[in-house]
Amino acid sequence: MAAGPAYNGAMSSTRLLNFLRPLALLACALPLLALLWAGQHDRLGSNPVETLISDTGEWSLRLLLATLAVTPLRKLLGLPALARWRRFLGVWSLVYALLHFAAYAWLEMALDVGEILRDVMTRPVITVGLLALAFMLPLGATSFNQAIRHLGAAKWQRLHRLVYLVAILSVLHFFLKKAGKNDFAEVSVHAALLLALLGWRVHDKWRRGDFKGFFSASPHSCSHQPRHPMGADIQPIVFHRKKP
Ligand code: HEM
Repeated sequence: MAAGPAYNGAMSSTRLLNFLRPLALLACALPLLALLWAGQHDRLGSNPVETLISDTGEWSLRLLLATLAVTPLRKLLGLPALARWRRFLGVWSLVYALLHFAAYAWLEMALDVGEILRDVMTRPVITVGLLALAFMLPLGATSFNQAIRHLGAAKWQRLHRLVYLVAILSVLHFFLKKAGKNDFAEVSVHAALLLALLGWRVHDKWRRGDFKGFFSASPHSCSHQPRHPMGADIQPIVFHRKKP
């Protein structure tokens, strides 16, 4: 039987997304390469440390928001293959957050633990940034298949809801930085995007009558099977101890 045009369209978008995936994964390294190049060629501006901290922080936040945008885009545009983009976007966001923290701790604070702790205690912008990073670490540490298998889908999903908290803290961190300079233009765009992404999720859960599960997410709290952690919530996943 000949496949319909809708099926063919879905197949070609899946192929295109799978083809673009490794390119997108490599493209995430471009801002880092640009910073390394600029550093090598003395092109980081009058305050190189500030440039490094700002750029790595901004890229971490952009990639975090891109990670959160994967599921809405996948569902709204009917592109299941997009689910496979979420993990590498999230991991790159963590890489930039770690570089951001390293630039701050090493280049700005000269690894002086006492000074860093004083900063964490006295500057809300630093406290909130550190909290965002602290909640991001367990997400990065459990972002590979073995961890998903070890935790089980329901527990893994519950843990990975921390990504919303990380995103809220990151935007708050950005806001606190910019509020000091009365410059709200960029941060309002990020805040509006985050609100739209969170709003879409709340609406999606509500539409599916899945609200209890949103907060408790125990394996028995919602009427569905735990969904595939990578977002392909079409089939339940089956883990095999040995190759079947
Ligand atoms: C998920 C984690 C984090 C994200 C997404 C993030 C993001 C950002 C962003 C977007 C900025 C503003 C950049 C600009 O000037 O345009 C920023 C600034 C900054 N962040 Fe972070 N950040 C994170 C964690 C941290 C951590 C852990 C620290 C240090 C403990 C930190 C220290 C700073 C500092 C020092 C600035 C500049 C603040 C200032 O100049 O007053 N950030 N960050």
